[in-house]
Amino acid sequence: PARLVVLISGTGSNLAALLEAAADPGYGAQVVAVGADRHSATGLEHARAAGSPVFVERVGDYAERSAWDRALATQVAQFEPDLVVSAGFMKLLGPAFLTAFAGRTVNTHPALSPAFPGMHGPRDALDYGVKVTGCTLFVVDDGVDTGAILDQRAVEVAADDDVESLHERIKIAERSMLVEQVGRMAREGWIIDGRTVRVGG
Ligand code: GAR
Repeated sequence: PARLVVLISGTGSNLAALLEAAADPGYGAQVVAVGADRHSATGLEHARAAGSPVFVERVGDYAERSAWDRALATQVAQFEPDLVVSAGFMKLLGPAFLTAFAGRTVNTHPALSPAFPGMHGPRDALDYGVKVTGCTLFVVDDGVDTGAILDQRAVEVAADDDVESLHERIKIAERSMLVEQVGRMAREGWIIDGRTVRVGG
């Protein structure tokens, strides 16, 4: 199966969905490690419960951000991932990381790119007053939520939505999009620069 390293910062509901899917050998991918940028990421419990190795690399533990970037890349490389899944990882990945895992790092964003990039997709969509928003799965590049789009799912905004209720509905769509697409990439390969690349063995 394809080897996944998943990076998280928060509750890890996307990670939990991947772990559940990967428990089925037919899924085609396994979570070989889970990394976070903070010890308080409660999603690490999902990883521990599933017996997956965990690691934490905190920006604040390094004198420079570039040193953190290199340390994170080194940690992830130890697990020899075919695909890195940034699932609610709230730090921008740096050049060392993106060079090491170019074209092999995907991210989910809780808005329909290119609308509402950044940390507050659901809030910004609500503030703008859009009637439809959603989620995006994309290949990470050096911009903020700008990489090549792999999939999107639409979610309607309800008249009585607040940020939390909207984000929760987006996350339902996000989980199924992520599980479907990562499994498909693992089983069928994916397109990078016009070539189909198999991420799994
Ligand atoms: C997800 O909705 C993810 O798209 C979002 O954080 C949430 C994490 O949830 N990420 C971003 O906003 C990144 N710009 P989770 O920890 O429960 O998977």
